[in-house]
Formats: sequence, structure tokens, C-alpha cells
Amino acid sequence: MKSFERLLLDNKAWASDKLMQDEKFFENQAHAQKPEFFWIGCSDSRVPANEVTNTESGEIFVHRNVANMVVNTDLNLLSVLQYAVDVLEVKHVIICGHYGCGGVKAALTNGSYGLLNKWLRNIKDVYRFHREEVDIIKDEQLRLNKMIELNVQEQVMNLAKTSIIQKAWHKRKGPQLHGWVYGLNDGILHDIIDLDYTFEVDPIYRFTTNELEA
Ligand code: CO
Repeated sequence: MKSFERLLLDNKAWASDKLMQDEKFFENQAHAQKPEFFWIGCSDSRVPANEVTNTESGEIFVHRNVANMVVNTDLNLLSVLQYAVDVLEVKHVIICGHYGCGGVKAALTNGSYGLLNKWLRNIKDVYRFHREEVDIIKDEQLRLNKMIELNVQEQVMNLAKTSIIQKAWHKRKGPQLHGWVYGLNDGILHDIIDLDYTFEVDPIYRFTTNELEA
């Protein structure tokens, strides 16, 4: 059997398992989704949103990219964010990074990775903002860990800079924003930062009330 055929076979087993547990499972799933959480995670295969949070399908709306970035010219991320916040009205947006992230690690080198260089440059900017705080750490592993935490923190800040989040905070005092880092070694999610509508966004990134009510 080819490796991809195993996926199709296991899918059939999974679907019949679900029906054994609840004969209406797919009937209920097919109606609509009303997830409470929007997850922005790294594409890394070891950090699947539902699995590490022990949640069911239908509970988490998910977007993943290299190193869980919120880039303000990324139409893909912004479209998913807008849908999650405006239409699904999620209560929580979670940026989830992970220790040992290859994307952050690559960004801290001078290696060249083709098109990926353009993406990694956003992570190099995070390093440039926090260079002193990062460089003071002598141990290479701990320095990478710190950068991964700072990157998550910066991406939460990037969310707060968007008109999508500022409008939602103005209109419904939600969603709450969270920054987590997942440990590949222990399977634990570490809470790095939490922000809600009371957070004072740096004035240069604030939209006017007129804009927020439009
Ligand atoms: Co990663």
C-alpha cells in the first residue's frame, strides 16, 4: 500500500468510528459551524490545533502558516481573520507558536531559502526590534526560545493593529487575543500574553472612531 492510500483507508475507519459513537455526528456537523476559537498556528506537522487542545472538529477555526505570522499584506490571513471575527464572531483569537520552530530558527541565520526569504524577513524584523533582549542570552537554545516567545507576542500586537480587531473591540468588546507557545518536548501550551478591548494600542496604529463605526 502506498503511504497516501493509508490516509484514505484510515479516513474510512475514522468516519465509521464517529458514526458508531454518534449516528448523527456528520448530520450535525453538516448544518453549520459556530466555533468559539480562531487559531493562527505554525504549519509544523507536530502542532495540530485540535489534537493538542483535545477539541472536536467544529470547535476551532484554523489558519496556519510558516511561524504563525500576522503580516498586514497577507490577504489570505486577513480574509480568514475577517470571516472569523465578523461572521463567526469568535470569542478568542489564539496565536500559537512552538519551541523549536524551524521558521524562526532559519530567520536568525543568514541562510538563503528562495521565496521563503521574503516571509522570513518579517521574523528578522521581530529580532531587530528586540535585539538587545535576545542577544543578552548566551545559550543558543534559550535564545531561540526567547525569540519564539517574542515572535508570538509581536504577532498578537499585529492583530491589535488591524482594523478588523479594532472595529470588533469597538462594537462588541471582543474577541480576546492570546499568545501561546507549544512545547514539542512536553506537549504543554505556555500562555505568553493575553489582550482584550481595554488594551491601549500604540496611538500611531489607532483608527479613528469614524473609521471604526463605518
Ligand atoms: Co514552526
